[in-house]
Parts: sequence; structure tokens; C-alpha cells
Amino acid sequence: MHGSGAASLGVMWRWRAITPDDADRNGRWRTGLAAHEINHALGLSMHAVRASYVAAREVLRSLVAEWAGTLPSAVRLERTPLGALYLPDYPLAGCSLSHTGGAVLATLRPNGPVGVDLETISRPIGDLDALIGTACTAHEQACLAALPPALRHRHFLTIWTGKEAVLKGLGLGLSVDPRDVAVHQVEQSPSSARWHRPRPGAADRWQLERIYEIPDHIATVAVPQCETLHRG
Ligand SMILES: CC(C)(COP(=O)(O)OP(=O)(O)OC[C@H]1O[C@@H](n2cnc3c(N)ncnc32)[C@H](O)[C@@H]1OP(=O)(O)O)[C@@H](O)C(=O)NCCC(=O)NCCS
Repeated sequence: MHGSGAASLGVMWRWRAITPDDADRNGRWRTGLAAHEINHALGLSMHAVRASYVAAREVLRSLVAEWAGTLPSAVRLERTPLGALYLPDYPLAGCSLSHTGGAVLATLRPNGPVGVDLETISRPIGDLDALIGTACTAHEQACLAALPPALRHRHFLTIWTGKEAVLKGLGLGLSVDPRDVAVHQVEQSPSSARWHRPRPGAADRWQLERIYEIPDHIATVAVPQCETLHRG
């Protein structure tokens, strides 16, 4: 299964299901990866993790190559010290990817930063209340507490993917407390989020949009409302 599209925020996206073959194929998975990516993948001891790493880069490269009019193997991907991916040959463009056990989702924004996060709906969360306590603002916690248990899990994933998408768009990932990002109008798309401890040069207000096409997953894309390029 696979698909692609464009969010109204000016973001192109592409996803596909991961197959065990992604890290197998008698070593053919190495094709198209840079030497440092091959080394990284070889260091991933769990087959499923390697497969998702390989698949995510393949999907992102195909998306960028189509946009840039080049071959996927010609697309160079680098990462900042905090782990954010960027495209050294297209300095104005932003890219971001996310993988779960079953699918990978890659995004490209030609003219600015973007973050994306993907979570599996059917995967149980061990201690949801504890996670809500460590990840959500007081207001988000109150909203979630008011929901019936059957809805709380899904609603939390919507909030969580919004937070992670913003933190990835900032290039900071979970080096920042997710409670510092507040997600608003959670049930709507597009919606918005605000980072409450902004740093100079980094956007505090973000727009969020969900991607609904990936079965059994919640996906959210984030772009800054006010354009700044931040590499973490
Ligand atoms: C980035 C992070 C939010 C990823 O979340 P996740 O749900 O576990 O995993 P996802 O599949 O959604 O995303 C992983 C991808 O996010 C991207 N990513 C990693 N760090 C990132 C960052 N700082 N900013 C933006 N994107 C980042 C990478 O592309 C990564 O995939 P890759 O390793 O295959 O390249 C989180 O794992 C993280 O922050 N990790 C770094 C740990 C950290 O910051 N520790 C504190 C010390 S500074």
C-alpha cells in the first residue's frame, strides 16, 4: 500500500507500507543510500528497524527527486547534530520523515521548514495516563480527561503527532519538553500549535494539517506561520 498527495500548507507527502524485504533483498537495499547511511543501517540490529530506516529514505528520495527533476540516487540527505534531516543541495526546502512499525511517511516543503509525525492507532500505549501527564499541557490534560476512554487514546495521538511535528519542524525533536508545545483546535484540520519557549530565529506559531489517507495511522504535518529557517 502506498500513496502521495499535497497538503494545503504547501507540503508534498508520500507514504508506503514497510515490507520485510526493505532490509533484505540480498543486500540490494544498499542501492541508493549514501555510505554513511549504509553504515548507520548496518548498525541497526533489529531487522524491522533497519527496514523502516531504509524504506523512509527511499520514499523521501523519490519524493524529492520527482520535485527536483533528478534521480533518487542523486538526492543528498544530511542531518543536523540533533538529527533533523535537510537537503544540502536545496537550502530553501525543508523535509521530514516519520516511521512506525508498519509505514513510513516523508514530506517535502519547497520553500521552508516542515515537520511530520505518524503514529499507529491500533498499537496499544502501556500507560496512557502517565504519558498524557508527561507530554500534555494542563489544558490538554483536562480536555483528554473529559473524554470517554474509547476516544481518549485517539485524541491523544492527534495531540501528540501535532507536538512531534512542530518539534521536528523546529529541528529540535524531543530535546525539548513536549509540554512546551500546545496544540489548539485538536479536532479540526487545519489547526494550530504554539511553542511557549521560543528561541531567537525559531517560529513560535505553527499551522497543523492532518493526513487522513494512511490506514490505521494518524499523521500530522506542521509548518511555521511566520517563516524562519531553523536547523536546530
Ligand atoms: C525526533 C524524535 C521526536 C522522533 O520521534 P519518533 O516518533 O521516535 O520517530 P519518528 O519515526 O517519528 O521520527 C524519526 C525521524 O525524525 C527525524 N529526526 C530525528 N531527530 C530530529 C530532530 N531533532 N529534528 C527533526 N527531525 C528529527 C529523523 O529523520 C528520524 O528518522 P531517521 O533516524 O530515520 O532519520 C525523537 O526520537 C527524538 O527527538 N530523538 C532524539 C532524542 C533526543 O533528542 N534526545 C535528547 C538529547 S539532545
